[in-house]
Formats: sequence, structure tokens, C-alpha cells
Amino acid sequence: MDNQTQPDVSLRNSQFNFSNTPKNWLNNNLYISHMFDTSSIAIPYIEGLVNFSVKNVLDKIQDKQLYAACLKFIEQETSHAREHIKCNNRLNEHGYRFPSFISNFKKKLNYIRTKWSTLSIIAVGVGFECFTTIISNSVLEEKILAQPEMEIQQFWQWHMHEEIEHRSVLMDLYLHLGGGYLRRVVMLALVLGCYCYYGIKIYFGFLRVDKASFFAGLKCICGIKSFFLKSLFKTLPCFRYSYHPNQLSNPQLFRVNTK
Ligand SMILES: [Fe+2]
Ligand SMILES: [Fe+2]
Repeated sequence: MDNQTQPDVSLRNSQFNFSNTPKNWLNNNLYISHMFDTSSIAIPYIEGLVNFSVKNVLDKIQDKQLYAACLKFIEQETSHAREHIKCNNRLNEHGYRFPSFISNFKKKLNYIRTKWSTLSIIAVGVGFECFTTIISNSVLEEKILAQPEMEIQQFWQWHMHEEIEHRSVLMDLYLHLGGGYLRRVVMLALVLGCYCYYGIKIYFGFLRVDKASFFAGLKCICGIKSFFLKSLFKTLPCFRYSYHPNQLSNPQLFRVNTK
């Protein structure tokens, strides 16, 4: 197994340094680099919301293994969010700032946090984890991150391996709390719709700052070879009644070292 599929244990809970990361950090290609940058912008807020919902139900978990998995999940997502904030600060320094998007997004998440039931927020998390597992699988299998020479490449590799590793935790928690099929698939559809809508808005915001070609950007995210588009199609089986995240991953990719 090569470096891409077998991260070193030293990458666990790592702190990354993003200074001196160029704008076109992946393959010298601005368009593909911004596909990752786009996800990074929203991730700390979404992971914060999901962690909030898991913390809210810890005292209702009867199963010791699931309880331990939830604690590990919170720990992993907290460190992901922390590193994404650092990554986003680097984007700010490059002149990519999306203040109206962020304040709007925060308001919406805050509404969800205060008005929705915890089970519905966990269902949002299940949908989000479903897509992050699939996209992580695609990126790692297709070796999109190339040789992880820069810290930002190692950072994404680390995050994606941990997403694959904890892919089942929220689904198991959701089922443990009595969550049903309809709520799960409605939330999955909502998550995918929002991911596309907000993702495209931010992505073209990046290109606007760069004065880069919108057509080339569109080709990158919607072209036949786009890992994003492929991942979106691969999400369709998640709407099945019998879906469980354990069915999704290439076992080669989640055999990671654990501390
Ligand atoms: Fe994460
Ligand atoms: Fe996750």
C-alpha cells in the first residue's frame, strides 16, 4: 500500500502549517485547488453544528461502544474544524473573503441549531458524512491529491482518511436514537442541494477574485472527469432504505493506524 492510502500515524491529530501555500497548490492548477478550498470555507461551521448535536445526546446513548465512538468522532471533527479555520485564514490572506456568505450561513446554521430537533440535526450530519465519505473515497482512490508534498495536501489526506474511518458513527447514533428512513433521506437531499448551491456560489467567488475563466471552472466541476460530479452520482445508493455507510468504502482506504 502506498503513502496515499496508508497515512503515517504521525499524521493523526496533526497541526498543519499553511503559510507559504500557493493559490494553485494542487498540481499547479487553480481550478482544482479551489474545489478543495471551496469545501474548506464551510466545513468548520458544519462540523461545529454536527458536534453540537452529538454532544447533546451523549447522555442518551446506552451502548458503550457507540458512546466511545461518539467521543472519538467529536475529537476528530474538532481537530478538523480547528485546522480548516487555519486553512481558511490563509485563504483570507490571499484575498479570498466571503463575509456576506459566512454571516448568512452562520445565521442559517444558528436557526437550525435553535429550532430543529436534535434528531433532525443528526440526520443532517448523517447526510453530510455520507457525502464526505464518498468524496473522500473518490479523491483517495483516484489519487487526486497527488504526492502529498505540501502540508496542505497532507492535511486533506489526513482529514479524508478520518472521514472514512468514522463514516458509520452518526448513522449508528441516528438508528440508536430511533431515527427513521424518511427524515434521513429528506435531510440527505437537503444537504446535497445546499452543498451544490453554496459550493458553486463560493467556487465562482474564488474565480471572480482571480479573474479566472468561469467556463474553465465549470468544466472542472462538471466535466466527465470531475471527482465532484462522480461523487454526487455515487451518492444515489445512499437513498436506499437498507443503506449503511459501512457498505461504501474501499477497505484498503480505511485501514488506517489508530492511536
Ligand atoms: Fe471532518
Ligand atoms: Fe466527519
